[in-house]
Amino acid sequence: MFGRIMPVSHPATAQTRADVLWWRTAVIYQIYIRSFADGDGDGIGDLAGIRSRLPYLRDLGADAIWITPFYPSPMADGGYDVADYRDIEPLFGTLADADAMIADAHGLGLRVIIDIVPNHSSDQHRWFQAALAAGPGSPERERYVFRPGRGEHGELAPTDWESAFGGPAWTRLPDGEWYLHLFAPEQPDFNWENPEVVTEFEDILRFWLDRGVDGFRIDVANSLKKDQSFPDVGSEAEAVLVPHEGPHHPFWDRDEVHEVYRGWRSVSDTFGADRTFVAEAWVDSPDRLARYTRADELHTAFNFAFVRAPWDAAELRATIDKCLAAAAVVGAPATWVLSNHDVTRHATRYARLDSTGGGVTDEARVGPNTPLDPALGLRRARAATLLMLALPGSAYVYQGEELGLPEVVDLPEDVLADPIWERSEHRVRGRDGCRVPIPWTTDGPSLGFGSGDPWLPQPASFAGLSVQAEQGVAGSTLELYRSALAHRRALTVAQTVDWLPSPEGSLAFRRLTADGSSVVCVVACTDAAVPLPAYDEVLVASTALEHGPDGETRLPGEAAVWLRLR
Ligand code: GLC
Ligand code: MG
Repeated sequence: MFGRIMPVSHPATAQTRADVLWWRTAVIYQIYIRSFADGDGDGIGDLAGIRSRLPYLRDLGADAIWITPFYPSPMADGGYDVADYRDIEPLFGTLADADAMIADAHGLGLRVIIDIVPNHSSDQHRWFQAALAAGPGSPERERYVFRPGRGEHGELAPTDWESAFGGPAWTRLPDGEWYLHLFAPEQPDFNWENPEVVTEFEDILRFWLDRGVDGFRIDVANSLKKDQSFPDVGSEAEAVLVPHEGPHHPFWDRDEVHEVYRGWRSVSDTFGADRTFVAEAWVDSPDRLARYTRADELHTAFNFAFVRAPWDAAELRATIDKCLAAAAVVGAPATWVLSNHDVTRHATRYARLDSTGGGVTDEARVGPNTPLDPALGLRRARAATLLMLALPGSAYVYQGEELGLPEVVDLPEDVLADPIWERSEHRVRGRDGCRVPIPWTTDGPSLGFGSGDPWLPQPASFAGLSVQAEQGVAGSTLELYRSALAHRRALTVAQTVDWLPSPEGSLAFRRLTADGSSVVCVVACTDAAVPLPAYDEVLVASTALEHGPDGETRLPGEAAVWLRLR
């Protein structure tokens, strides 16, 4: 099937990871702080918990961590409602704890990326409180988006815009004015036309860069700028986490937003080329996404096209090619992700019996009634991970995926905390199922997460998926990740994938390593086994290889392998 894979002459100038800035090749582990590790026993993850588990992340082979918002917050949206951008939420610790965490991480060779939320603050932020107090027409109100209503008495919202969490994006105040919130009403949108907002955020960046953070993940990076004529959207249905067409939409992915990031880049550059940004921007196409990573803007941006791709060889290959091509135009590294705190975990997405697992919108979330084959989902998830980690660029690993954790689809309704649940009038359960606290041990209170009851209950099945259960166990998902992350270090940084012919329903491509050998990644996306080319060594496989009728080695279906060829 493969024929003979021709040897390639190794370019004399092949660059290795050591030759380029760290963020171009890094594996970054995403910590959803509330659910990672609880140091003080209150059932909520915190900075002390993170500090205690940093050695685990180093041993896993991560290069960096990204921590979701840890700022003071009323937690209307899990901390994405920030009340003070220069302090730490008491539930999570103190500024001194943050400094200590950064120092510990650096001491272990781990970089630290923090989350910055520039589209909106909490309604408890002092600026919003001042705006409420100051009243219509005041400079305080100019920091947010306040508008008069429509209709005879201003009783109609200024536009038809809908909140990403459901319901109108405007809320009316007793004084008659309306304010904009693209997310929950507790998350008022900043007015990015106001230079005070621009200056404030550049100053916040400096505050954290001075404290030693290595970069920022930018929350909803594509929504800051709004069409100042405030047109209606029309009948188009809006929902979170779906792509939006630029540049004509009144708030998603407008061309003006790039001004903001040119300013941010000039701030980070003064701290050196190894401080970095990664944009969260659910945009319509890899080309629109690449605009965020032009040379004078952000360094990287999540490739959500890859998250959305179904488990299908042709679709995956086309998506990978498009993402690599778009990134190449602007000279940015591609940035891969399979799971995060907003989407159904990939072990469960790929378990769907009613589709091949591409859906990540709220409506497409896997729920209690979705027909699932969990074993198939995990099998595919492990293969997808080997595919992702073989690709050039940087990659994100979401806490717990290295254990093969599934989405918890049957959380009792009375524990659901995601604002989507209430805002959708109980139609969409929301994102709690991928935010259940991590199991560290096979027993004990909260399976080693902490000493108290975890803020979301863990299913009994988590015990067998705990770090303790998988550590050192050959074939476990944890050991699969460790092994892949270790072998990945040998790959060169060339931003290309050398596709090899392979049977329908499978993928095969070659990457070069620094010592002049090649690594071939073969992925079987159907249940058909795939004969393997001649190889010197199996580096890592998502499942045991098998032998065909003629004794040839084959990759079983729904699996992936990395082979070394000299
Ligand atoms: C981003 C975050 C998500 C949050 C939203 C509003 O999409 O990842 O968790 O709810 O922004 O801040
Ligand atoms: Mg705690």
